[in-house]
Amino acid sequence: MKNHALMALALLALAALTLAAASAVYSQEDVTTVRDSAFGNRMRPPVPFLHDAHNEKAGIDECNVCHHVVEDGQLLADETSEDQECSECHLTARGAKPIELIAVYHLRCGGCHREQLAGPVMCAECHPRN
Ligand code: HEC
Ligand code: HEC
Ligand code: HEC
Ligand code: HEC
Repeated sequence: MKNHALMALALLALAALTLAAASAVYSQEDVTTVRDSAFGNRMRPPVPFLHDAHNEKAGIDECNVCHHVVEDGQLLADETSEDQECSECHLTARGAKPIELIAVYHLRCGGCHREQLAGPVMCAECHPRN
């Protein structure tokens, strides 16, 4: 009886550990590159991007500066799309509406860097050579 109870406890602990490990794998602090799954045949390697360190250094407080939700041209201030890839709304096809995927990254990432005169703006600064 006692042994069974102990065994059950041990199994529970193991399950909790496994869950914790699994959720850690998918959290934003582990993001080190931008690697949108919609780019099938990438011409360049994924872009280095230390998610949390970048956002802290850059002083970005709101997640929806990047993970936005837009309706009728209006940014919904209290909502985020952090559980979605940009490509779930922005398609890769040339000229896709509202804005094609490559341009979305270049506008958001490079746009802020140009505006703030901080962060990389040249192709090779964001796209390391193969
Ligand atoms: C400067 C832009 C930017 C900001 C600000 C930002 N993120 Fe992200 N985040 C990204 C990008 C880009 C990716 C996707 C990386 C990829 O597609 O490979 C991402 C990925 C994620 C993921 C998915 C992790 C995974 O791989 O499953 C989560 C969760 C996330 N971000 C949460 C947040 C939260 C919470 C905040 C605010 C505290 C935030 N992000 C702020 C750009 C940003
Ligand atoms: C839930 C859907 C959705 C997701 C996910 C999404 N977007 Fe958007 N985005 C839109 C819509 C809709 C518009 C068009 C807004 C308009 O018509 O003014 C837009 C417009 C834009 C624009 C141009 C206007 C502006 O805000 O500067 C950029 C840049 C952009 N998105 C970047 C991103 C990036 C980067 C990501 C991923 C981190 C992302 N979007 C994820 C829906 C989305
Ligand atoms: C709202 C403004 C803003 C946005 C959006 C933004 N950045 Fe930055 N980024 C900065 C600033 C500011 C710095 C300089 C930080 C410093 O070193 O003080 C920076 C620095 C960087 C650096 C240099 C290394 C580092 O982590 O500091 C890289 C690489 C970078 N950004 C990539 C990206 C990518 C990729 C995206 C889009 C997914 C992005 N940034 C979106 C503001 C932004
Ligand atoms: C501020 C950073 C930044 C700069 C500067 C930048 N890019 Fe990008 N670019 C990105 C990000 C982020 C993506 C999305 C990467 C991904 O998901 O794999 C991207 C995607 C791309 C893609 C589509 C994915 C692929 O590899 O086929 C191409 C092509 C590209 N960029 C070319 C360029 C060229 C050419 C320049 C210079 C004119 C440039 N980029 C400048 C950040 C940048």
